Amino acid sequence: MISLPTILEEPMPAEKNNADKLASLVSGATGIRRDEPLAKRTTLRVGGPADIYVEPASEVDLAAVLIFCAGRGLNFFVLGRGSNLLVRDGGFRGVVICLAHAAFSGIEMVGERMNCGAGAKLKNVAVEAKRHGLAGLEFLEGIPGSVGGALRMNAGAMSGATFDVVESVRLMDFAGHVFELTPEKMAIEYRCCATLKNHIALGAVLKGRPDAREAIEQRMNDYSQKRWAAQPAKPSAGCAFKNPAGHSAGRLIDELGLKGTRVGGAVVSAEHGNFIVNDGTATARDVLQLMEILKQRVKAERGIELHTEVEIIGEDSCTTKKQRNPD
Ligand code: EPU
Repeated sequence: MISLPTILEEPMPAEKNNADKLASLVSGATGIRRDEPLAKRTTLRVGGPADIYVEPASEVDLAAVLIFCAGRGLNFFVLGRGSNLLVRDGGFRGVVICLAHAAFSGIEMVGERMNCGAGAKLKNVAVEAKRHGLAGLEFLEGIPGSVGGALRMNAGAMSGATFDVVESVRLMDFAGHVFELTPEKMAIEYRCCATLKNHIALGAVLKGRPDAREAIEQRMNDYSQKRWAAQPAKPSAGCAFKNPAGHSAGRLIDELGLKGTRVGGAVVSAEHGNFIVNDGTATARDVLQLMEILKQRVKAERGIELHTEVEIIGEDSCTTKKQRNPD
């Protein structure tokens, strides 16, 4: 039996202390959880928990979270819909911020423009655009992400990329200041917006062009069919690697006969060589080892360096909290 004095003498875990303090600094509408499993918040479905997970209910609360993290020297990470993310098995030490609250998920039509919150789902953006006869955003239909994640990654599909349709972005710097930038003022490249490495996207104005709804629908259906025919349905983080200039990473991996290569529960998809799928038993370590094998084989046999497209966060399981903090 544990005596009461023993309990009272136990130090409060740092993250409980931090979570309680953070809760006192934000509105009651902001959700805060400790030890939140992240695997279920990624499409790859691997990885450990976040010490603290926050869904701010307003820009004011988001700014308070950022200032709190800076004051306490806590790492933070902004999570979208987890579709391009690998969380290591030991989880994330610090605060994971997710703009999933309704306050960040709106989609408002203003003529040929759409005012979208960072938390809005890309599929919903594409469907709303179609409903209002706005073309040019069809390619967003099959990307399983949020507007914020798509901006950060300059995500793309079917020859379209997010920043092709962005008119302006509303951002917050890590000190909590809010401002707007047009794409010309931002550092944008293939599958990356470097400006959003040290700013958080709050939302964006996207621009389309008028077209018949039937034509838009037809294109969306074509894209969807193309994707289902070429990409796996099993859990994955999308393309594992960026396409090297002039090459398709998927085709390179395929040509080297590496489809089906397996480490534990992580397998190179039979449908597309650039997808690593989770058979339901994979760990982050399996996926990382498999990525390393693919990189080495492509380098050794084709002399081409593959660069990871998937964002990787967190710690290996050998440094999980239990081991660092046996109490
Ligand atoms: N190919 C093969 N074998 C494979 C995979 C592809 O021969 O296993 C060939 C295809 O037949 C095609 C060429 O390689 O001739 C290119 O393949 P695909 O059209 O699938 O395009 P990708 O370059 O592999 C890119 C994006 C995808 C996006 C598709 C469709 C990157 C890294 N990937 O893939 O985006 O869905 O185009 O537009 O830019 C993602 O970024 O996560 C992603 C899935």
